This record gives sequence, structure tokens and C-alpha cells, in this order.
Amino acid sequence: MNKKTITGLAVALCLLMPAIAHAQATPGKSKVAVIYYSLSENTDMVAKKIAALLNADIIRLETAQAYNTRDMVKFRDFAKTEQNSKKWPELKPLKTSLSGYQTIFLGSPVWYSSIANPMVTFLSQNDLSGKRVITFGTCSGGEGDFFKEFDKNIKNAFVEKGLMFQNASNDKGLDKKISDWVKKVKL
Ligand SMILES: Cc1cc2nc3c(=O)[nH]c(=O)nc-3n(C[C@H](O)[C@H](O)[C@H](O)COP(=O)(O)O)c2cc1C
Repeated sequence: MNKKTITGLAVALCLLMPAIAHAQATPGKSKVAVIYYSLSENTDMVAKKIAALLNADIIRLETAQAYNTRDMVKFRDFAKTEQNSKKWPELKPLKTSLSGYQTIFLGSPVWYSSIANPMVTFLSQNDLSGKRVITFGTCSGGEGDFFKEFDKNIKNAFVEKGLMFQNASNDKGLDKKISDWVKKVKL
């Protein structure tokens, strides 16, 4: 081997090293997270089932100050006022960095035909650029503009509309619905 060939090989190796290191850090599988907000545990239940099937990390969004839900009629008025005035609630800081996740399932309950207020805060504070984002929700009767509002609030990501789970806590077919759907989402 002459000097020129050896230098050429050394340069090629230097150029390839980062790619080799990256390949070792991500062994062929995207890193997946399920990020969700849930007030009364329906979305929590669905999120946990998705995460278990995909062996994904799970991140629950929490408001810095717990909502007062002792009187649900008053709470609903409060949530409506927050939504109308766009005074989105502060969140507790996330304990996990999102930078390593290539695919994110984002779940929220439907609040007044839209996404829940804490999810709006999360999306205004977190850049999901370049990630694959799959949205899902839970509701009691009507989803309204939920998925449209989700899309509107997610910036620069590849957003895929996922599923809406209506009356999830009483749905006997819930497990099958989730697993059939998750199987179809190619990761
Ligand atoms: C403030 C508020 C607004 C809601 N608005 C709607 C709505 O517009 N349409 C609907 O079908 N359900 C609505 N719901 C019901 C929730 O979407 C439903 O119960 C959901 O599964 C709750 O999810 P969670 O248990 O994860 O909080 C509303 C609930 C709350 C608290």
C-alpha cells in the first residue's frame, strides 16, 4: 500500500466514524415516546396501553398548579375561560429531553372540540421539528376540530392523524382497537 492510499483510507475512516457511532447508538429502531395530558385518567389509560405495546417511554404532562376539579361545572367554566382567553396553564418542567425521540405519540382529551389547554402550552414550548408525530385523543361524544387544532399547534413536524377513543373507560373493545391500530403504525 502506498502513502497516498493509506492517507485516503485514514480520511475515509475519519469521515465514517460519526456514522458508525450513530449506528451503534440507534440499533435500527426509532426511539418512541408517548406524551400525553390527562385530567380524569382516560387518556392516561390509552397512553399506557400504547406505550406498553411499543415498549415506548411515557411522559405525562402536568400543570404547575393542579386544577381545582372539586366542582366539575365550575371547572369546565374555568377551562372554557382559559381557552377563550388563550391564557394557557403553566406546566411542570419535563424531566426528559425530547431530542432523542424520532417518533412521538401525542395524546389529549377533547376539551370543547379542541385539544386540552395544557397540551397547547406543551406545543407552544417544545419544538418537534423533524419528528414524526402521531396524534390521538379521548372524548365522551364529539371530537369537533380536535385533530385540526392539534395540527395547527404542532410546528414543523410530520403529523399523522391517529385515533379518537370515545368513552374509553367503558369500551370493551379498547385493547383490540389500540393493538390493531398500533400494529398498522410502521415504526
Ligand atoms: C373541560 C372539558 C371539556 C370537554 N369537552 C368535550 C368535548 O367538547 N367533546 C367531548 O366529546 N368530550 C368533552 N369532554 C370530555 C372528555 O374529552 C373525555 O371525558 C375525555 O376522555 C377525558 O380524558 P381524561 O380522562 O384523560 O382527562 C370534556 C371534558 C372536560 C373536562
